[in-house]
Amino acid sequence: MGGWIQNGDFRMNWARVKIAVLALVVFLVAMQLIQPQRTNPPAVASRALWTRVDVPPEVQSSLMRACGDCHSNHTVWPWYSRVAPVSWVVTDDVNEGRRHMNFDDWDAQESAKQANDHLIDICKEITTKGMPPFTYRIAHRESQLKTQEISAICSWSKSFGAAPGNASGARP
Ligand code: HEC
Repeated sequence: MGGWIQNGDFRMNWARVKIAVLALVVFLVAMQLIQPQRTNPPAVASRALWTRVDVPPEVQSSLMRACGDCHSNHTVWPWYSRVAPVSWVVTDDVNEGRRHMNFDDWDAQESAKQANDHLIDICKEITTKGMPPFTYRIAHRESQLKTQEISAICSWSKSFGAAPGNASGARP
């Protein structure tokens, strides 16, 4: 018959479970000591996409709603972005997203070509569901773009295909 049921063994196993749970709790608490910085650097209006390129107001608000948490300096940090290990993943996504393309720092891009490519990529990412990332879409239902929003963004985004250099800096 099973040793698990026998009194001595049961106490042994129970002691192990308690140690394991305690170790887990200590580990989870210790993880919280590593707090990545959640930044929202000041946005300089003159460096923003909206200043550099003509963006219809409804396109701007759709982009900010669906993409702004990772591609702008106006990130809304949710409560769970304070809890490790989620905090590590979220801050990493935001930093990475901003580094690749920041609506509030459009001038940071390497070249006019890169800026233009990003404008064209926006429609591609949305229509192929490459962006926003899957985990973000699950956590942020409100970020979902409606069909009309997607077509407005795409007709704007595609307008840059024909004329590379449009996003170079000054308005065309
Ligand atoms: C949860 C954060 C997050 C959100 C929200 C998000 N992105 Fe991203 N985005 C990233 C990260 C991280 C990268 C860089 C790594 C990669 O390509 O996966 C990126 C890369 C990109 C790139 C490629 C830039 C390059 O340098 O090649 C484009 C274009 C882009 N995103 C568009 C969008 C658009 C459009 C939206 C909104 C519909 C959006 N993203 C929403 C995190 C995000």
